[in-house]
Amino acid sequence: MRPLLQVALDNNTLSDALKSISLLGDVVDVIEAGTILCLQEGMEAVRCLRALYPEKTILADTKCADAGGTVAKNCKVAGADWMTVICSATIPTMKAALKEIDDLQVELYGDWTYDHARQWKEAGLSQVVYHQSRDALLAGETWGQKDLEKVQKLIEMGFKVSVTGGLELDTLKLFKGMDIYCFIAGRSLRDAECPKKEAQRWQEEILKIWG
Ligand code: 5RP
Repeated sequence: MRPLLQVALDNNTLSDALKSISLLGDVVDVIEAGTILCLQEGMEAVRCLRALYPEKTILADTKCADAGGTVAKNCKVAGADWMTVICSATIPTMKAALKEIDDLQVELYGDWTYDHARQWKEAGLSQVVYHQSRDALLAGETWGQKDLEKVQKLIEMGFKVSVTGGLELDTLKLFKGMDIYCFIAGRSLRDAECPKKEAQRWQEEILKIWG
């Protein structure tokens, strides 16, 4: 299957997020209410996205660390299909969340290990997000072999692996031959001169490489 394209709406206000999504929503596969947006506007952001895009997969990027069941239920009621938990959340938090929502993405930040990943798998989780954090990117990190090896290992463990963090159109070919589940892009799509055309270019590039 070709990788999906997810746009991350890390806008500071709901009005700005709605402006962004109105420019490219039809072209992407998954719409993410980003962490920044969720913190600023709460579940109203998810409710608005669901109202506008009844057929799309909507993700609430809560990076939930605790109270998994309650947070997941709130996301689901607001209209989200998926939400995120941070990799340092406990297994009970992840399991509680998974009971309330269609699917969970585990966000990989900091000091996770493959042993943790095995535990997520045993707990029934199937999606992970391999991340270059904004702060790592600001400190000069870039995508490279070390990342590709970790991503490949997670794929071989049986996870659906999404990748994100400072991705650009040119970055996609780095992942050629790998079974990436979803490319998650924020600023490269939202801040493009023509977000719709840029999202179309990403979809064409995905088709060209994985078609
Ligand atoms: C996804 C995120 C960010 O929204 C994502 O990494 C997009 O960031 P960028 O603007 O660098 O593409 O936390 O989980």
